[in-house]
Amino acid sequence: MVTTETGISQVHVCDHPLIKQALAELRQKDTPPATFRDRINELARYISYEAAARLPTRQIEVETPLQRTTGEVIAEKQIILAPILRAGLAMVEGAVATFPHAQMRHIGLYRDERTLQPVEYYVKLPDRLPPETLVIVLDPMLATGGSAAATLDIFKRRGVTRLQFLCLIASPEGVRYVGEQHPDVPIYTAAVDSHLNERGYIVPGLGDAGDRCFGTV
Ligand code: PRP
Ligand code: URA
Repeated sequence: MVTTETGISQVHVCDHPLIKQALAELRQKDTPPATFRDRINELARYISYEAAARLPTRQIEVETPLQRTTGEVIAEKQIILAPILRAGLAMVEGAVATFPHAQMRHIGLYRDERTLQPVEYYVKLPDRLPPETLVIVLDPMLATGGSAAATLDIFKRRGVTRLQFLCLIASPEGVRYVGEQHPDVPIYTAAVDSHLNERGYIVPGLGDAGDRCFGTV
């Protein structure tokens, strides 16, 4: 894992060979939706594993068949996985494999094709969430960063102070934007690509993640 301090945020690029291999298949334009979802799922498992590497642990007592000893468990009281609809859904299974006891909170946002601004259509959350909750936002694509920043805002407005953003492909523009808006939120990704094109798509990227996941092209 390569960690870059951009001056405004921490970006962790998870560059394990298995991650590179799954990402290559995901980018291929003729990868069918079922395989595409499988690869997203696989990558989400790897990336969430990397994101878990920095979580605090606490000691517990363990009794082996031979003697008493101590073990360690992740110290988080409450983890929320927050997939951004639609494409974030494909990351859920992989993230749940790492955080099986997490609560799930879905966030419905889409990006207006003309303005590239996020439009909220489904947010069903209590007004307040315990501040010590760790919220892990899931979305394969970080393009302009508008959807990511808006989702992080949604949780911060409810009192959450600890967040992570997990994606698969980020643009430098998106990393910068999220870093400016939310310098406290680490970003975990499999790649930071070259740039955004004039329509706000990540280049080389993988195209439209939601359409490719759900066969709606
Ligand atoms: C995609 C993607 C992100 C967003 C990223 O979703 O899954 O949520 O675009 O773009 P941004 O960083 O510029 O905000 P999209 O808006 O296409 O929604 P959909 O998956 O429901 O079609
Ligand atoms: N959303 C996507 O699905 N892909 C991009 O490249 C940009 C936004």
